Amino acid sequence: MTSTGECVARVREVRGRLVREGPPRTRDREGDFETVSVPEKHCDQLRDLMISEGAEKVVEVGLAYASSALAIGEALATVNRPLSRHIIIDPFQEREYSNAGWDLLRSAGLDSIATLMLTPSSIALPRLLAEGFVADAAFVDGSHRFHEVFVDLYYLRKIVRPGGLIVIDDDWWPSVHTAVQYYEQNLGWTVIPDAFPGETIGVGPQGGRGARCKAYRLPDPTFEPSFEDFRAF
Ligand SMILES: C[S@@+](CC[C@H](N)C(=O)[O-])C[C@H]1O[C@@H](n2cnc3c(N)ncnc32)[C@H](O)[C@@H]1O
Repeated sequence: MTSTGECVARVREVRGRLVREGPPRTRDREGDFETVSVPEKHCDQLRDLMISEGAEKVVEVGLAYASSALAIGEALATVNRPLSRHIIIDPFQEREYSNAGWDLLRSAGLDSIATLMLTPSSIALPRLLAEGFVADAAFVDGSHRFHEVFVDLYYLRKIVRPGGLIVIDDDWWPSVHTAVQYYEQNLGWTVIPDAFPGETIGVGPQGGRGARCKAYRLPDPTFEPSFEDFRAF
């Protein structure tokens, strides 16, 4: 039987190799790995956040080369709760990424707790909801189109338990930021300060510099506002 320490060490080793050497194969695009991946520092912060939550079940949108998925997997292996589950959604993992991210998760031994759904999140998330899946946390780094982020958050709000966590990557993109703002302004999502301390990256809405990753706490209990209370965002 493998100990928690051995499982975590194996994930760390694969994460370290990915950072040092890059993935075993990439798409035929200059700097593809660096462009699409969440940087190591933010992945470490994401891992630490999931550990401090004691997360057991996590939904992730967007696998690519698995930088963030390995960090979440490291957190789940560290917390080591009995029913750990990591649901990962990415319709392009096979077709575009030749399963590079999934193979890395497998080599880290994380396929024992991870499930890959090869469908767009707008189809996978309602399916999870209909199955009654309840998560402690979610990480969103998928299509980045406004309407798709908005729909992801719509379903994740129902899948993640009240008081749970939703973490957004690339909030400095106006398309992502605007979608998230609806939930912050209207549905009681509160920013967790200092979840991602350090530098700001990129130019956000109105040309201001914004944070790349943002973590939100869902209200507990959850509530449905009246349409009359709508706040423009
Ligand atoms: C920026 S990458 C994710 C990078 C990953 N978080 C990491 O750190 O390695 C975005 C991913 O979202 C996926 N994606 C695009 N549209 C999607 C959709 N509708 N549903 C789910 N995933 C989607 C892409 O295939 C891509 O793998």
